[in-house]
Amino acid sequence: MYLGHAPELISPRLSCTSVVQCIGTRSFIPGKQSTGKVEMSPQNGISSLDLAFCLLGGAMALWMLLNISWVLWFKVRTHVLSEFRKGVDFSHYGTWAVVTGATTGIGKSYAHELAKKGLDIVLISRSMEKLKQVAAEIEELYGRNTRVIQADFTGGSEIYKSIEEALHGLEIGVLVNNVGMSYPKPSEFLQFPNLKKFMNDLVNCNILSTLKMTEIILPQMVGRKKGIIINICSGSAWRPMPFASMYSASKVR
Ligand SMILES: NC(=O)c1ccc[n+]([C@@H]2O[C@H](COP(=O)([O-])OP(=O)(O)OC[C@H]3O[C@@H](n4cnc5c(N)ncnc54)[C@H](OP(=O)(O)O)[C@@H]3O)[C@@H](O)[C@H]2O)c1
Repeated sequence: MYLGHAPELISPRLSCTSVVQCIGTRSFIPGKQSTGKVEMSPQNGISSLDLAFCLLGGAMALWMLLNISWVLWFKVRTHVLSEFRKGVDFSHYGTWAVVTGATTGIGKSYAHELAKKGLDIVLISRSMEKLKQVAAEIEELYGRNTRVIQADFTGGSEIYKSIEEALHGLEIGVLVNNVGMSYPKPSEFLQFPNLKKFMNDLVNCNILSTLKMTEIILPQMVGRKKGIIINICSGSAWRPMPFASMYSASKVR
């Protein structure tokens, strides 16, 4: 590799990347005696193809930098700045928030955050023990009222009568349709053990629950002309997902 006098190749039109590539690939031309100087010629100069690749590389690097900056900014905004900003006044929309699948994971986090923002919380899921425990946590931490409703959303339309009765008379400002079930493991459609029951449970839990809870709560929001409904979807719904196709399809919102 010959490095002598490479700076002579630098012209204002060439980027740093071009120069690095130029230094890295320079070689002697057979039969020519080196004078210690590199001269610009069609053989050893920067071709327009080199320049095009350099510009393409520069554009890609810039694009990646912008992407990384955007992700970092999003994380800082979500996890750091949000602690200092007032944000949406959720209590303006109503006294109560209803969260389905509220005792662990994302649903529990929503229940805590909404209570922190001044709402009373209705928690709905299957285990009464877990419901009571999370309700007690919320009351103790944020001093808000709670109600718990035990329900299994894999059930059909029949489970909603008692839910509707339990919610009767509450001014509900926020509904979080969070409950959802996924596959125990990735699987081909026809290979699913007990396919008929699984299909039924998944459609009821992931789709019917969202529709029925919205049907119960939306009319009072429309009546008051305010309310927020949050439907939890999934990244797996952005495109068809092999070995999880039913889940993927059921999470499109
Ligand atoms: N976790 C992820 O990586 C992820 C990613 C994207 C989207 N999501 C979506 O986010 C939502 C929550 O996910 P997650 O991972 O936080 O869930 P999770 O940790 O599995 O929590 C599920 C919650 O729902 C309740 N639940 C489960 N099945 C139920 C049923 N049949 N009827 C009533 N309650 C039920 C559970 O309590 P009980 O057991 O007491 O019923 C628990 O409170 C789902 O809709 C999921 O599709 C999750």
